Amino acid sequence: MTWRVAVLRGDGIGPEVTEAALRVLGACLPFQERPALFGGAAIDATGSPLPKETLAACFASDAVFAGAVGGPKWESGGVRAELGTLGLRRKLGLWASLRPARYLGLPAPLREDLARDADLLVVRDLSGGVYFGEPRGKSENGAFNTWRQSEEQTVRIARTAFRAARARRRKVTSVDKADVLEVCRLWRRVVTEVGREFPDVELEHRHVDAMAFEMLLEPGRFDVILAENLFGDILSDEAAAVVGSIGLLPSACLGDGTPLFQPVHGSAPSLAGKGVANPVGAILSAALLLDHGLGQQPLGRAVEEAVKAALREERTRDVGGNASTDEFTAAVLRHLPAAMEKPKAQSEAEAYAWGV
Ligand code: NAD
Ligand code: IPM
Ligand code: MN
Repeated sequence: MTWRVAVLRGDGIGPEVTEAALRVLGACLPFQERPALFGGAAIDATGSPLPKETLAACFASDAVFAGAVGGPKWESGGVRAELGTLGLRRKLGLWASLRPARYLGLPAPLREDLARDADLLVVRDLSGGVYFGEPRGKSENGAFNTWRQSEEQTVRIARTAFRAARARRRKVTSVDKADVLEVCRLWRRVVTEVGREFPDVELEHRHVDAMAFEMLLEPGRFDVILAENLFGDILSDEAAAVVGSIGLLPSACLGDGTPLFQPVHGSAPSLAGKGVANPVGAILSAALLLDHGLGQQPLGRAVEEAVKAALREERTRDVGGNASTDEFTAAVLRHLPAAMEKPKAQSEAEAYAWGV
């Protein structure tokens, strides 16, 4: 079987890290690449960040791999490149973003004895919150957005988090701002109710401000972090700092339609074209694609193993080394054949436990 993967390279460092991920993916299995325009590059070519041909390619594929979009060039025009990412998730019916962040033995700003216990999975709702609430816009003297969260959106993302926790350390920390916001009071009530379906999983609620603090104080205390759209966006970048770099984090966007895999980081305009971006987040997103998108768990595990082995030899600048994107990717490719041969039981034991 030849898998069909829609590939949306995006802007800035997007094409560079996507290329790295595709090389690794291609070394794992044959796939048919369906390249399509996305983000700022698509605005330049067609006027839209998500042209209908791009969407059609995604619908007709088994999985989508996307680089980040955006950059200064598209900040002042009529349409923003980021609408490509938001529109894609929405049109594909993707409402859950899974963002694992695990300590990989790399230099991190936190004390090593704290960072080394970090093994977090942010489960972020993509469908609700202030991102999409209507009405929104500009008023005479300002601007406004609306924060909306439905029970249905909350139930399904909460169940996703509890299921993920069952495959991990059986703990969910639900994040809200229930001391101030009605939407968060609904969130807390619904998550508590869903929690009763999972008596084997511990549930705790934290206010987002306290959570931001405690995640740095003692990251090892947390397992699955369940959050609505905006809080999940912010806390996943914080989790990246805990483990050392935003360049390390992968994500899977799952829901009703073709699943989407993309690194958590953005287009990092200041690094674009220099060949220095860390491709680990993109390569681990390819591992998630193998795992969740194509049902090839052993190959996903092998990619993770090869990344870990490569990190013992080579590192990009953001994690204290001086390897280029290409040099690091070559190291992953060198380690991949041995990782693919490793006995399954051993590789399972060392697995990331993405959990879904
Ligand atoms: P960013 O993630 O691009 O950069 C934040 C910091 O991390 C910068 O210092 C950057 O140099 C560094 N960094 C990011 N990725 C790295 C990597 N792979 N290796 C090494 N260092 C890396 O965030 P930003 O600056 O807020 O956003 C830049 C643009 O990207 C904006 O237009 C934003 O909207 C967009 N963005 C897009 C997506 C997406 O489409 N998936 C995600 C996040 C941000
Ligand atoms: C992310 C990004 C996006 C988000 C932006 C670019 C729309 O920050 O994937 O984390 O906020 O979801
Ligand atoms: Mn983000």
